[in-house]
Amino acid sequence: MKGLSILGSTGSIGTNVLRVVDAFPGRFEVVGLAAGGNVERLAEQVARHRPKVVSVGDASGLERLSRLVDLSGVRAVTGREGMVEVATRPEALMVVASAVGAVGLVPTYRALEAGKDVALANKETLVMAGELMLARARETGARLLPIDSEHCALHECLEGRSPEHVRRLILTASGGPFRDRPAGTFDSITREEALAHPTWRMGPKITIDSATLMNKGLEVIEARWLFGVPAAKIDVIVHPQSVVHSMVELVDGTVLAQLGVTDMRMPIQYALTYPEKWESAIPGMDFTKAMALDFRPPDRARFPCLSLAYRALEAGGTAPAALNAANEEAVAAFLDARVPFLAIPETIHEVLDAEPGSAVSSLEDVLEADRRARERARQALARRSPARALP
Ligand SMILES: NC(=O)c1ccc[n+]([C@@H]2O[C@H](COP(=O)([O-])OP(=O)(O)OC[C@H]3O[C@@H](n4cnc5c(N)ncnc54)[C@H](OP(=O)(O)O)[C@@H]3O)[C@@H](O)[C@H]2O)c1
Repeated sequence: MKGLSILGSTGSIGTNVLRVVDAFPGRFEVVGLAAGGNVERLAEQVARHRPKVVSVGDASGLERLSRLVDLSGVRAVTGREGMVEVATRPEALMVVASAVGAVGLVPTYRALEAGKDVALANKETLVMAGELMLARARETGARLLPIDSEHCALHECLEGRSPEHVRRLILTASGGPFRDRPAGTFDSITREEALAHPTWRMGPKITIDSATLMNKGLEVIEARWLFGVPAAKIDVIVHPQSVVHSMVELVDGTVLAQLGVTDMRMPIQYALTYPEKWESAIPGMDFTKAMALDFRPPDRARFPCLSLAYRALEAGGTAPAALNAANEEAVAAFLDARVPFLAIPETIHEVLDAEPGSAVSSLEDVLEADRRARERARQALARRSPARALP
């Protein structure tokens, strides 16, 4: 039995991780669960899996949880320290990092420091502190395995290849709900329109990131660290069907692609079982039906977040952490209907201009850059005219 701790167990990825666990009885033991405020779902998970440790966002959440489920024999903790405890529990061989945003950084970092393999969905952590996380993984021998479907595809295509044979990585993007929307109408985009992703059902933050293409920008930075490939050798291509999950071009011009249905249980199972392959009940591709695969370059003018992510990656140091912080603040403001859609790239642009990126030597440098960038982003968002915010 492989001991698992799951950070963000109540989210879209977290619940799919537990579906994979359920699909293989006796193969995994759920050692720890960590969530934020969804105590109802967490209570169900605790009742079913009886972890050794459970963490909730705060003390009031813990009190509600204790009224919903019997916590005898389960250590119950709260907040960031609680998440760190879940992430470093000795019985956990692997930590699934599936919380959303910067909140996952410290626990995921501590897990690598403790030598635990990490199955990573929480890409923001690698965007913020990729170099430090890779350094900890190298020191302790911990493996960092991607759950993001694109990176899972790249990981699989790169298996057994030597780096000098790789010309470039090609990340595919669905293009999101505004792929074909005229630029002149972007200022009237509503929250509901932005939340209607054409091919994937995901949590709200990543769904908005997909609508701005920032998700692909974050993935470029994630790929840089996971595969040690510079930004100049990472391309993005729009592929509306989301059938090809990503591709690797070799120096002789050959292109390797990984195809599959759009079901996150596949990349999750890949990470949880790597390097093994287990028989899965997920249906494969149906090639008896006609299908077309389209590819086209992304429109960087309509989706400036992609270029902003490349800019932060080239700048290095604290710039990607600033990019991430500004994006998190702007997306939260858009989801609260406090600012319009276009405020997202504009805010990130403003924060990056003020935070060109200083050197990173410790986690504290990253956390400090995150705090500074959030403060700047909040000021920029508050300055926007309420008349421009959506009702
Ligand atoms: N969804 C996908 O298909 C997909 C695909 C690839 C990558 N990812 C990445 O995976 C990560 C999770 O995405 P998601 O779609 O699963 O998001 P989600 O559905 O919004 O779930 C987020 C999880 O994080 C937890 N969380 C949020 N704030 C927290 C806090 N302060 N303390 C502790 N836990 C907290 C949430 O807990 P509560 O709900 O209990 O508050 C929830 O369990 C993101 O980084 C995303 O980019 C997602």
